[in-house]
Amino acid sequence: MDEKERKDWIEAGRVAALARDYGAGLVKKGARIREILDKVEEKIKAEGATMAFPAQISLNETAAHSCASIDDDNMLTDEVVKLDVGAMVNGAVGDTAVTIDLSGQNAELLKASKEAFEAAFKLVKPGISVSEIGKAIEQKIQSFGFEPIRNLSGHTIERFELHTHPSIPNYDSGENFKLEKGQVIAIEPFATSGVGRVKEVGLPNIFMELELKPVRNPITRQIIKEIKGFEGMPFARRWLEKKFSKGMATLALSELMRLEMIKEYKPLVEQSQGLVSQYEHTVLVLDRPIILTKSK
Ligand code: CO
Repeated sequence: MDEKERKDWIEAGRVAALARDYGAGLVKKGARIREILDKVEEKIKAEGATMAFPAQISLNETAAHSCASIDDDNMLTDEVVKLDVGAMVNGAVGDTAVTIDLSGQNAELLKASKEAFEAAFKLVKPGISVSEIGKAIEQKIQSFGFEPIRNLSGHTIERFELHTHPSIPNYDSGENFKLEKGQVIAIEPFATSGVGRVKEVGLPNIFMELELKPVRNPITRQIIKEIKGFEGMPFARRWLEKKFSKGMATLALSELMRLEMIKEYKPLVEQSQGLVSQYEHTVLVLDRPIILTKSK
């Protein structure tokens, strides 16, 4: 990666970290989830970046992909709160997540995913296999008496591509892919008191363009135009509901799903209803690797 490109990755990481820390400060009992997400996204834009994906808050046994719709007025009470944030600068992405424990009862669960990240990060260097990283994550989480979520993983990131090959597993997957110098990866251990698998549950509020083609319906046409502005990255139902209306968004999204022009991401819930914590940073793989989403 050249100097200019490297600057973009560093800047994307800086903005994602700033927005994550700002958002974490808003996570309090009585706060409205949708308003926190709106503020985090405003912060990303105010810093001159764009959205790599919708800001997400997932509670308790929901591990990921939970995103408020326009009429979701739910407020935080005493949950285990995961905040996942992504910022983009010229296609370079910073992807980072943190867990806040409003219950005051789950400090060990939070520590398990955070320390698993730290154990994994210590191993990062060109030439290490992804399963060695996964093994370190698995062992650390199990040392706390929890399980890693095995069907969720970290990932390699490329310009305008959030999840590319190879994945960074959260367990010893036996995969022998080796990290390469200059690669950007997201390491994201999930720890759970459950069995360690998630399944899709409920209505999707996050979508991504697959292939947009001309359609007849004028409402869907307008929404296709808007979706093109998201540059192929995941987007929120709420963004469309805000700009158009709930009814227009529902109509267009269901038509685009039927035509297989977009894909949906449903909330991912721990199969045995175990509580879930997550800790994630974006890392630049070098002989001395850099955490791009470190707090300032
Ligand atoms: Co990620």
